Amino acid sequence: MATMTRPAAARPAASATLNVRDLSVRYATRDGVVEALSRVNLDMKAGDFVVAIGASGCGKTTLLSCMAGFLTPSDGEILLDGAPVEGPGADRGVVFQKHALMPWLNVIDNVAFGPKMRGVGKDERYAIAREQLGLARALASDPEVLLMDEPLGALDALTREQVQELILDVWHRTGKMVFFITHSVEEAIFLATRLIVMTTRPGKIEKSYDLDFGRRYVQGMNARAVKASPDFIAMRERVLADIQHRD
Ligand SMILES: Nc1ncnc2c1ncn2[C@@H]1O[C@H](COP(=O)(O)OP(=O)(O)O)[C@@H](O)[C@H]1O
Ligand SMILES: [Mg+2]
Repeated sequence: MATMTRPAAARPAASATLNVRDLSVRYATRDGVVEALSRVNLDMKAGDFVVAIGASGCGKTTLLSCMAGFLTPSDGEILLDGAPVEGPGADRGVVFQKHALMPWLNVIDNVAFGPKMRGVGKDERYAIAREQLGLARALASDPEVLLMDEPLGALDALTREQVQELILDVWHRTGKMVFFITHSVEEAIFLATRLIVMTTRPGKIEKSYDLDFGRRYVQGMNARAVKASPDFIAMRERVLADIQHRD
């Protein structure tokens, strides 16, 4: 009988760190130089769920692209477990907004089968299955950090809330660091252990909040109850004000 190959033991997640040091990115354009990021600093460790929010063009995707190794910064550096990031690598799992559909078709039917048996509607079970597969693909190499750029933007409200819960479950179970970008203030506050509010021209981190709403969910509290609690609502208004001040 064939022997099962076990996956390599996961590195002790507790030691993982990601440090963004004085990161600046300038793009040369026809109209001159765009300072997309200016001396951004950010320190993450295993178990951190960092969510970036901010107006369009404030450099969120640029920051994630540098973490992924898709983009070389103009100044500064990013260290993963102390070693400089110099290109893409299996130690970082990237979840894209649009998952390629065709190669997944058979797999999707399989993943969507359980929800089908539970009576979940077709669109919803396929949307959820796609998210599960996107996450599974990103987690397949047992990365140290998951990088997610507005992964839920295309989902309807109900499915989006379910996938938020799925992401928190995965985060809690794996202990991964997550860097997650969203435009939804409610989503940001629900998921983040640290929420960073970014500003534009030049792009930088203006505010940072340590939050525990996602932990309340993984500890058993109903997600809607978490989002309806008075301190959640107060934080939502505060972050909305942060964002609107600049718009
Ligand atoms: N490849 C590029 N060339 C020139 N300018 C770019 C490029 N990518 C992004 N920018 C500019 O850099 C700034 C930050 O962009 P981006 O990181 O995509 O912001 P966000 O994801 O927060 O919307 C914007 O002003 C954008 O127009
Ligand atoms: Mg973007």
